[in-house]
Amino acid sequence: MNSPSTQPTAASAPSPTASTATIVLAGATGALGLLIAHHLRQRGATVRALVRPGASAKAEAASLRLQGVELVEVDYANLAQLTQACTGADCVVSALSGLREVIVDAQTRLLEAAVAAGVPRIIPSDFSADFTQLPEGSNRNFDLRREFQRRLDQAPIRATSILNGMFTELLKGQAPVILTGPRRVVYWGDADQPLDFTTMVNTAEYTAAAALDPTTPRYLCVAGEVASIRGLQAEAEAATGHKFKLLRVGGLGVLGTLIKATKALMPANDEIFPPWQGMQYLHNMLSGQAKLRTLDNARYPEIRWTQVREVLATKS
Ligand SMILES: NC(=O)c1ccc[n+]([C@@H]2O[C@H](COP(=O)([O-])OP(=O)(O)OC[C@H]3O[C@@H](n4cnc5c(N)ncnc54)[C@H](OP(=O)(O)O)[C@@H]3O)[C@@H](O)[C@H]2O)c1
Repeated sequence: MNSPSTQPTAASAPSPTASTATIVLAGATGALGLLIAHHLRQRGATVRALVRPGASAKAEAASLRLQGVELVEVDYANLAQLTQACTGADCVVSALSGLREVIVDAQTRLLEAAVAAGVPRIIPSDFSADFTQLPEGSNRNFDLRREFQRRLDQAPIRATSILNGMFTELLKGQAPVILTGPRRVVYWGDADQPLDFTTMVNTAEYTAAAALDPTTPRYLCVAGEVASIRGLQAEAEAATGHKFKLLRVGGLGVLGTLIKATKALMPANDEIFPPWQGMQYLHNMLSGQAKLRTLDNARYPEIRWTQVREVLATKS
């Protein structure tokens, strides 16, 4: 299987010019999709957003239209319709989010449609830490991505995955690492393990640039900031002006046991991000197994990378 560490990265990318490319964007009504659409439009691209039947009436659809995005209603079970929607595109970008029926099934039909329509490039909805080398079963959502990746790597189309670590915004609440109430930074394992963070906006900006860059390699890895747990402690202190203490709950084995117990007590298997999956994500990062190896931040030099401290300092 291809992995970011074994793939050469192109030395330089074309300089940004107003694009005349057409990009088909799946998942454009989602949090990341809306931002990608915005940055594609800023770069002058023609954007065709695929939306599910009925979604055209949503506020997100109205926002996309205001930005000059064309909306096409598609049924992801209908290959002919999807193929028609992909026709003439320079790149298909997926920002879909979901479990097997989305990440494997809907993306497979999107892939088949892109190939049938003769689209030269596709960017799947990966947008994560490096899942490519993780052991099967260590993260349910990453297992699904690798399953789709195996299909993608067999298809006659050039693919580029954007790997960006954890969205920095998650440190403001969803990822229970920096606790602003008791002023603690909670962790398992090694406080000096480097961890990758990128904001959703930076990820979207980079994805838009990559979608318009016909020379992208199989993987592009970015991190707005690489920080250890000790680094996050310093960032939290700088952002709030208060002292934060480290709280080591135990080793990674303890976190593994906690994941099993949480999964047994609160399975929530239909949720995309149940608490135990968030803990699996943390385990992958804290173990270093999902660490991005070489970073391609400099590929699009116009992007200014937002730091963890800036995100922590903003009011939520
Ligand atoms: N690295 C990180 O820390 C991190 C954190 C969060 C997310 N992500 C990743 O970022 C990507 C985008 O996530 P997001 O938070 O932007 O997701 P989101 O806001 O939930 O949006 C998901 C999009 O997928 C569409 N969708 C959902 N189910 C679908 C289905 N069955 N068929 C067709 N379309 C469907 C939704 O359409 P509707 O609007 O019609 O529902 C929406 O456009 C995902 O790969 C996600 O895993 C990464």
